[in-house]
Amino acid sequence: MEHTILVTGGAGFIGSNFILQWLRQGAASIVNLDKLTYAGNLRNLEDVADDRRYEFVHGDIGDRALVRSLLQRRAPRAIVHFAAESHVDRSIRGPDDFIRTNVDGTFALLEEARAYWAELDEHDRSDFRFLHVSTDEVYGSLGRDDPPFSETTAYAPNSPYAASKAASDHLVRAYHHTYGIPALTTNCSNNYGAFQFPEKLIPLMILNARDRKPLPVYGDGQNVRDWLYVEDHCTAIAAVLERGRVGQTYNVGGWNEKRNLDIVETICDLVDEMSSREGLSRRSLITFVKDRPGHDRRYAMDASKIERELGWRPVETLETGLRKTVRWYLDHDDWVRDVTSGSYRQWIETHYSS
Ligand code: NAD
Ligand code: DAU
Repeated sequence: MEHTILVTGGAGFIGSNFILQWLRQGAASIVNLDKLTYAGNLRNLEDVADDRRYEFVHGDIGDRALVRSLLQRRAPRAIVHFAAESHVDRSIRGPDDFIRTNVDGTFALLEEARAYWAELDEHDRSDFRFLHVSTDEVYGSLGRDDPPFSETTAYAPNSPYAASKAASDHLVRAYHHTYGIPALTTNCSNNYGAFQFPEKLIPLMILNARDRKPLPVYGDGQNVRDWLYVEDHCTAIAAVLERGRVGQTYNVGGWNEKRNLDIVETICDLVDEMSSREGLSRRSLITFVKDRPGHDRRYAMDASKIERELGWRPVETLETGLRKTVRWYLDHDDWVRDVTSGSYRQWIETHYSS
């Protein structure tokens, strides 16, 4: 078995941040298996494209023959599974791809991982890891005064996206329990940072504020999310991969609960500060629009288990992380132009016009 790790979905937002951070820290090689859906972008990985420790493979996690041959050829010591359809609004408009990739795709990957793992020698078999990257949305929605989600909170997914991730979490759990595959799951709160596709709240608001377009806040803007800077999520995943107890799940969060409206107002102020100040404050662009169907009211994560067991805590505060993120989007117009063409424009038109 090599020291290589196989990453799925590494051309997406969190996966690409993970690969860049992993290779910066001088660790072992990485193979990135990605289908390059609308959310996958090889530009994110330009800096490592020629790195000898990095290989990109274009393909679907549901393509079992491809996954099988890749596992045989590269003999990884771990799989870190990011690949997924990840946007709640898209799952409401069309759930099919979410079931196909998040449920069927994870099943296919687990089956191939199990066959590969079963053939390893005893030592390699116990060292192998399957790390499944999941979300806090599997736990459903909290009331204002409820305690945050812990690893023992009952699953209650509310959107097709959340249900598909919950199903994949259950499969991973079952493959550990039934077959003994050394699996771990991380359930993380809302990420933000560089390379996030601008269909998600924070990059969408930064770019609309920059261009002085309306800032569409769903419902009354009082929904609460717990925000984590993406690089902190990546260090949490690395910690779980190296030191997590197999069969366990770890909640990952930023200890940063904020109402959507507060996030959008902070973004307006940062964009005002960092770009042209002419005209009214960008806060005047805030527009309340029709709510997301089944919109979860509040997420909050109790991330004390990962701190207690693995010594992980986020480094970035919302203040420092948002500042870096706004700066990054304002400084990377080429990247923005690249991803906001074609199908992106069509999504924005269809979604926000209705
Ligand atoms: P993303 O949508 O930015 O990227 C997903 C990547 O997966 C893309 O590169 C895409 O091309 C690839 N992909 C999709 N279907 C595939 C398939 N069938 N085969 C191979 N590759 C495929 O997603 P993200 O925001 O980076 O999220 C990554 C993971 O983290 C997901 O599993 C998501 O559920 C989870 N997560 C995300 C957040 C968040 O705030 N973004 C928070 C917690 C957990
Ligand atoms: O909680 C973790 C999850 O966070 C991840 O599992 C998902 O992959 C990721 O997309 C994210 O899901 P959300 O639905 O919370 O993220 P989104 O950025 O779509 O929305 C954040 C909040 O902002 C949510 O309450 C909806 C609201 N919103 C979103 C958009 C796109 C708006 O008010 N206006 C918008 O235009």
